[in-house]
Amino acid sequence: MTTTIGVFDSGFGGLTVLRALIQRLPRARFAFLGDTARLPYGSKSRRTIARYAVQSAQFLVQEQQAEFLVIACNTASALALDAIQQAVPVPVLGVIEPGAQSARAASRTGDVLVIATDATVHSHAYAAACQALKLRALEKACPLLVPLVEEGWTAHPVTEQVIRIYLDELAAEANAQGLDPDTLVLGCTHYPLLRPLLERLATAGTRVIDSAESTAEAAARLFNDKTTLADPQPRGDPSTRTLSPHAHGWDTSSAPPTEIRCFATDSVEKFERLGSRFLGRPVGPVALIDLGG
Ligand code: DGL
Repeated sequence: MTTTIGVFDSGFGGLTVLRALIQRLPRARFAFLGDTARLPYGSKSRRTIARYAVQSAQFLVQEQQAEFLVIACNTASALALDAIQQAVPVPVLGVIEPGAQSARAASRTGDVLVIATDATVHSHAYAAACQALKLRALEKACPLLVPLVEEGWTAHPVTEQVIRIYLDELAAEANAQGLDPDTLVLGCTHYPLLRPLLERLATAGTRVIDSAESTAEAAARLFNDKTTLADPQPRGDPSTRTLSPHAHGWDTSSAPPTEIRCFATDSVEKFERLGSRFLGRPVGPVALIDLGG
């Protein structure tokens, strides 16, 4: 029987993680839950985030029989990973560790910048994960970016101006602390959609780390040994097959059929309309569920 991987986010931004997962594990069955009724998590307290995230994880495991969980939401990964792991009897992978590991691999100076929601930054989860890998991390909350992406303003002059301000403030702070950052971690589900702008506006030579990609790579590494979920048709070097470099865009002609079931706790119409931007293809019908208060 095909393994079901549950993917959870506070909204549909986590579809960027699902997209990266499908590219690496095309034969898995995916159940994706966006807790859209209670988004944003990024401005809420640890207690509330943990309560919401645990309910969502339990839905995926108990009602959708997920055997692995990927917490696509940076905020839930930062503040509720332990609570989720205690609440469900399946392996749970968050996005923070894989993001930090990619930053470690990318950085030559050992100094990295992390942009994320307010709650993620105040948890210092990225700083701790980076420190464990002997990286110095400077974190910055960028609360205006999620609503701008939700509005679809991913290439808008206002978004460009906001990013400029955030990056200038980060650069000034890094300078004041004597840091020499060469890597920027996108510590939020929504930021991969701003990648072209961020790459253009960041200091020349900055490596941009997308935790969606790093998490999918970590998941593929984790699952590939144990299951047959990865692509059975080797393309190129077999040793790099499931760890292939970022494959942006969607080639439906060669992609095997992947079963995806999407669930949302609020407007399924909005999820279906906006979700395709994050997934890179239509999300299909979305089922409305009620997780309580
Ligand atoms: N999914 C959240 C994250 O990655 C962003 C949206 C929210 O604040 O809920 O941190």
